[in-house]
Amino acid sequence: MIQAKASTGLVALLGHPVQHSLSPLMHNAAFAASGQNLVYLAFDVEPGNLAAALAGLKALGIRGANVTVPHKEAVIPCLDAVDPVAARIGAVNTIVNEDRCLKGYNTDGSGFLRSLVEAGFDPAGKRVVILGAGGAARAVAFALAAAGCASLVLANRTPERATELAGALAGAGLPAPVVYRLGDAGMRPEVEAADLVLNTTSLGMWPRVEETPLPPDWFRPGQWVYDLVYNPLETKFLAGARRRGCRVFSGLDMLLYQGAAAFTLWTGREAPVAVMDRVLREAMGASSGGPAAGR
Ligand code: ATR
Repeated sequence: MIQAKASTGLVALLGHPVQHSLSPLMHNAAFAASGQNLVYLAFDVEPGNLAAALAGLKALGIRGANVTVPHKEAVIPCLDAVDPVAARIGAVNTIVNEDRCLKGYNTDGSGFLRSLVEAGFDPAGKRVVILGAGGAARAVAFALAAAGCASLVLANRTPERATELAGALAGAGLPAPVVYRLGDAGMRPEVEAADLVLNTTSLGMWPRVEETPLPPDWFRPGQWVYDLVYNPLETKFLAGARRRGCRVFSGLDMLLYQGAAAFTLWTGREAPVAVMDRVLREAMGASSGGPAAGR
């Protein structure tokens, strides 16, 4: 645990709610392991107080922040500058306070990509199915397009949202993504043909662990299957994929690497990912089936 001194800097998490976030554990362990004179604290900020909280970041000289549900989009007009990647995604999850200029970044997409690459999956030339079309889907879709994936198929409960994301991806160097309503049996051949199938919906998240966005017999052995949900670590979706002989990833991998990228933005240093990973897995082991959630 960091011994806070008068010179200790602060990094804040702004969300609503925040009490189950794993980020304070992860980042405080990272700051301690790498000798950073920083502490990370979570603040429950109601939507009506977001602008005041950001003014507070500036007034107090707070080093930076993470932004989570429900503020990732709403925070953008309150910032002094927004990184082009975050602007395209339309969501900010990390803020750096550079001489009282608040600049917003999005590390979800880059963190997601790094988790794939660390595991040995190169998205270039691959066919990808994305289930969901919310903020997380936008971040990973832009990252996959930038990494040169061959095609994207989008499926969402509200197909209009997937169509809107497909439109936003025009010019990203991909064929126009095909859009389905989530659960449409017509997309089964697309799922079977995919190299990577990705759940970005909240289906299967604790406590609704019996939900899954796809029947498991749609998976093909040898596919890579990724669930951005990390509580539980193995969702029904992932358990079905694993039983079919797929290579599976939980959302803890993305949580880790989006955090590592944010650490680097605040400190200019490489993040101690082994320490962060251990802390996250210990916390999930300790709270399996419990309410740990969100960044
Ligand atoms: P996030 O930032 O985590 O992506 P979000 O923007 O609220 O959060 O998006 C949530 C995603 O989960 C959306 O794709 C949402 O589908 P809709 O666009 O139709 O709302 C999906 N989702 C949430 N609950 C769902 C449910 N019960 N069934 C199917 N999809 C669901």
